[in-house]
Amino acid sequence: MQDGEIRVDFQKVIAVATKRGIFQPAFDAYGGLAGFLDYGPVGVRMRRRILEMWRKHYVINAGCLELDGALIGPESMFQASGHLGEFDDALVDCKECGKQFRADHLVDGGEEMSRTELAKKIINISCPSCSSPLSEMSAFNLMFSTSVGAGKGSPGYLRPETAQSIFLAFPWLLRQNRGKLPFAGAQIGRSFRNEISPRQGPLRMREFTQMEVEHFFLPTNEPSLTMELRNTKITLLSADGKESQTTVGQAFDEEVVTSSLVANHLARAQNFLISIGVPPGKLRFRQHGSNEMAHYSSDCWDGEINTSLGWVEIVGVAHRGDYDLSAHGNASSREFRVPIPGTEKEIELWKPDIGKLGKEFKGDAKLILEAIKNVELKPNTSLNINGKDIVLSEDYMSQKTERRSEMVYPNVVEPSFGLDRILYCLLESSWNIDGEREWISLPQDTSPYDLLVAPLMTKDGLDTKAHEIMKSAIDIGIDAYYDEAGSIGRRYARADEIGIFYSMTIDHQTLEDGTVTLRERDSKNQSRVSLEDALNQVRR
Ligand code: ATP
Ligand code: GLY
Repeated sequence: MQDGEIRVDFQKVIAVATKRGIFQPAFDAYGGLAGFLDYGPVGVRMRRRILEMWRKHYVINAGCLELDGALIGPESMFQASGHLGEFDDALVDCKECGKQFRADHLVDGGEEMSRTELAKKIINISCPSCSSPLSEMSAFNLMFSTSVGAGKGSPGYLRPETAQSIFLAFPWLLRQNRGKLPFAGAQIGRSFRNEISPRQGPLRMREFTQMEVEHFFLPTNEPSLTMELRNTKITLLSADGKESQTTVGQAFDEEVVTSSLVANHLARAQNFLISIGVPPGKLRFRQHGSNEMAHYSSDCWDGEINTSLGWVEIVGVAHRGDYDLSAHGNASSREFRVPIPGTEKEIELWKPDIGKLGKEFKGDAKLILEAIKNVELKPNTSLNINGKDIVLSEDYMSQKTERRSEMVYPNVVEPSFGLDRILYCLLESSWNIDGEREWISLPQDTSPYDLLVAPLMTKDGLDTKAHEIMKSAIDIGIDAYYDEAGSIGRRYARADEIGIFYSMTIDHQTLEDGTVTLRERDSKNQSRVSLEDALNQVRR
């Protein structure tokens, strides 16, 4: 079978996912709530394993500093980050049936259009559900709002991306990194978006899991493209519509990708995706056109997988420049800038004499100290404190020499992965069909279980032996699944359906000589080996 071939459709994946405990619609008993899913026993394992691989790739091997930030944030932060003003989708509703739609999803190429272009096109489109006229287009903010605290409380929002807590933690993480740049912060966690019409299972959810890295660097010292990643083969579709099968190094040399750190992260993202089982033939990175770009991006490449529903974005690699750090630096009380190396020099500064200010101005002294933080202090500085004009003479200050550097906001490159979309796309792209046989051929690292333990029958002590083996397997870190129901063929088929990597059968010979039959999922090859050899082979 071909790497790029599509072998199963959305409905089938969803049906098997529900039947086999991968995921199902949440709150079904109450009629369901679109955009929310529950993950079951098999799905939770698959998610954990993808997350483990992601942590291995970005946190353990690449040394990103991991964070677990709060989910609800204050209004002031989302005002500063631009999410309150700009994080919206274009909404239209049907005047007749009331159904709501994302306008850019109703127009061919709509995602790449400006809002003005889209508004012009949408006039000619009628409701996909009942063919009645649609309303005028309006902007719908995607954040879920809440109220924090009793009574009226204060307005808060569920985070629409994990990234903001990494930006806010930047000064703290910088200290953990002993003041050195570049470094990267990483976070795995839930994000929330009140999507307009989430009808595609795990592909468009209102509560989903992101795995994000924010890579901070000095704008004058961007990390270069590493030799190790230069030769990574990659498919790129740039904003001008040109598709190229190239290497990351060549794309950077030819300025298809203009940032060396973005180039690094395209290669890293691809390596990670391939390591968890995404077929390279189904993967491409597509550059955003200027109308498609999020409010914070100056360049963005979406890693997309070709599925039965078309190309699906599973990761976005964005150059966010200093958008976020300067926004928080300007709006909050924290310093988000860093000194530019080599610019340190001695300067003469006037410093307030706190004792004298206290004696003279009593209660107002605190307000004066606050006010002079925002001005360059010098003799006869005028301030307005509580409506009174105050002139501070030289008596209230003294001159000091300090060493100071020029300050700059670091820049950021961000790979942002969505776990739920990855899981769906992995299920679809690793689906195999051979006659009656259907199986998911994920690598062992992302299969839900390493091993099926199956006694040939539940008599003559075979089940007791199988339980013993199950325990030994679990004791050495193998994720094992026990199944004694039905024929051995049925059990293999059930294990294949959820992609269990190996199956071990325990029969009468096991009791005599301690050997078992070990079957490998993809090839169906079976070998008779000692229990010890089998466990060593299965162990990851
Ligand atoms: P789309 O254009 O499909 O709405 P997006 O461009 O808004 O997606 P990003 O804001 O770049 O997506 O989010 C980063 C990643 O988070 C995406 O690549 C995707 O994997 C995941 N993601 C975003 N929105 C959703 C969602 N509603 N449901 C599931 N995953 C999502
Ligand atoms: N952090 C990128 C996004 O979620 O939009």
